[in-house]
Amino acid sequence: MIYFCSMTTLLDFPLQIATPRLRLFTAQERHVDDILTYLIENKSFFQPWMPTYGPSFHTRFEQLKWIENDIQMFHHRAKLKFYIALKEAPEEIVGDVVFTNIIYGGFLSCFLGYKQSQKFEGNGYMKEAIEAAVDFIFKHWKLHRVEANIVPRNQKSIKLISGLGFEEEGYSKKYLKLNGAWEDHVHFVKRNLKLE
Ligand SMILES: CC(C)(COP(=O)(O)OP(=O)(O)OC[C@H]1O[C@@H](n2cnc3c(N)ncnc32)[C@H](O)[C@@H]1OP(=O)(O)O)[C@@H](O)C(=O)NCCC(=O)NCCS
Repeated sequence: MIYFCSMTTLLDFPLQIATPRLRLFTAQERHVDDILTYLIENKSFFQPWMPTYGPSFHTRFEQLKWIENDIQMFHHRAKLKFYIALKEAPEEIVGDVVFTNIIYGGFLSCFLGYKQSQKFEGNGYMKEAIEAAVDFIFKHWKLHRVEANIVPRNQKSIKLISGLGFEEEGYSKKYLKLNGAWEDHVHFVKRNLKLE
């Protein structure tokens, strides 16, 4: 995957990655209305795969707090969240890819989450975005391992992640509470083979 970063050093905020069709970017306050539109339009599509948030989640005030928190976490290298837009339509959010629980020391590992707007499914955008984002975090944040945890019936997600070279590593019962129910999850992992 070829990408470039529009910044002076690879540790600076905001961060931007370009792929052949997409722009991945870290959100700033000015993106809040686009993010809110994306979340509201896809509320019922995303709900089965998300924790239950209160009604304030889909408000401008709450999303501004998430953006501020993501910026703080970025500066601590504890979380990296990219929003995705088409190069040809930069205002509309296609999806997001997020690395959370980034742990350093001898572990150098994190979790991967992702979702995309229903109307953009089936074009290979998420595959393109995850490939670039994982490439980035391996190369520039020097992580060794990225773990994606998926509910077994989410076959679209399993197909996607398997196609990106993630390997199945195990199964945990009642692992995460999504949409109000504790769900079993399959663990998929990609390791950074270039890290010594
Ligand atoms: C999981 C999710 C991201 C998968 O979306 P997706 O559209 O299947 O993934 P992509 O954007 O990579 O598109 C892949 C599809 O595009 C097709 N495609 C079309 N043009 C393509 C291209 N140029 N390059 C690659 N694939 C292309 C592929 O064949 C594939 O379709 P298929 O699965 O029918 O074979 C999406 O369903 C989603 O956001 N769901 C809700 C949230 C969620 O479940 N998140 C994950 C929780 S673990």
